[in-house]
Amino acid sequence: MLTFYILLLLLSIKHSTAGSAEKTHQRPKRLNPQIIGGSDSRPGDWPWQVSVQKDKTHICGGSILDSWWVLTAAHCVRKLRADHISVNMGTINLRRNGGERHKVAEVRVHPDFNLSTFEADAALLQVKPRIKFSQSQDPVLLPPDEEMDTSSWAPCFVIGWGVTRNEKRPAILQEVEVELIDWQHCQKWAPGITENMVCAGFEEGGRDACQGDSGGPLMCQGPNSESWIQIGIVSWGSGCGESRSPGVYTLLSKYVDWIKNSTSEAGKPYTPRRENTNKPSREESDPNSTPELMAIFRREMNQSVAESFTISGSCRIRAFLSMITVTWRILIYMIDE
Ligand code: ARG
Repeated sequence: MLTFYILLLLLSIKHSTAGSAEKTHQRPKRLNPQIIGGSDSRPGDWPWQVSVQKDKTHICGGSILDSWWVLTAAHCVRKLRADHISVNMGTINLRRNGGERHKVAEVRVHPDFNLSTFEADAALLQVKPRIKFSQSQDPVLLPPDEEMDTSSWAPCFVIGWGVTRNEKRPAILQEVEVELIDWQHCQKWAPGITENMVCAGFEEGGRDACQGDSGGPLMCQGPNSESWIQIGIVSWGSGCGESRSPGVYTLLSKYVDWIKNSTSEAGKPYTPRRENTNKPSREESDPNSTPELMAIFRREMNQSVAESFTISGSCRIRAFLSMITVTWRILIYMIDE
């Protein structure tokens, strides 16, 4: 009996060390030559990410802009006919058929795209039928079309189904945190960059996008917002995750105008998502508790006040009516108590 226990103990020790070795191997933090240095994303975390596919095989990433448009890299689709491309969305797992497949009605490659410099590496895909938004498919926000101060955008992530250290084609969408690199600084490491590109990564390498991630979004939280804003499109790099060789991205703030114009020209003008500042909390709240009621009251009051300031005429009546509704709810609550 005793020997049995000793054997069991030895076996479990062996198992646990093997397990931890495997873990560190699978989630390398630094100096891995290939999304490089990243980890599995969770369902619903990046609901704008899509897989751009040729004959149902993943070729590139992309992001949902609105119900008609997906943004990707020009070098991914420039040679393809619309009817050979499809876009898979609403899932983080490409091997399960959980996602939604959309056909592509039109490909609009940026007219300035240059194959030797990778300047203007951006393309728009008009999908059919239109995209219905849900928790797992939702549009990304675009940056303001002004000069970008890279130092004020953090944290940043790049995501994709591209090559990782362990797998050529990971099933689960990978994510990795990267830092925006000052343009002057980056020019020393990637001399080919133009002012319409932005670099992200680390001097020591180890965390980066890689082949198959192209077209996907580089996202950061802005100086005064917790929402994810797409700053770049995965475009190029020399190697993947190597030191002093960061990933290079199409600088999106330079192309917001083109997105607006090109989508209008196609008859389906880009319609941005409204930024949701009123993020619902993850826990279910009890709508009958006093603080919750007060919050509703405050929210409705603010809305009423805001409405009566900004909108005139018929909307004042609406504001007045909503004040009555709130007072009524509070009265009922008090009677209930
Ligand atoms: N051009 C690659 C692609 O088509 C993306 C390369 C990105 N490379 C990098 N080191 N960040 O998927």
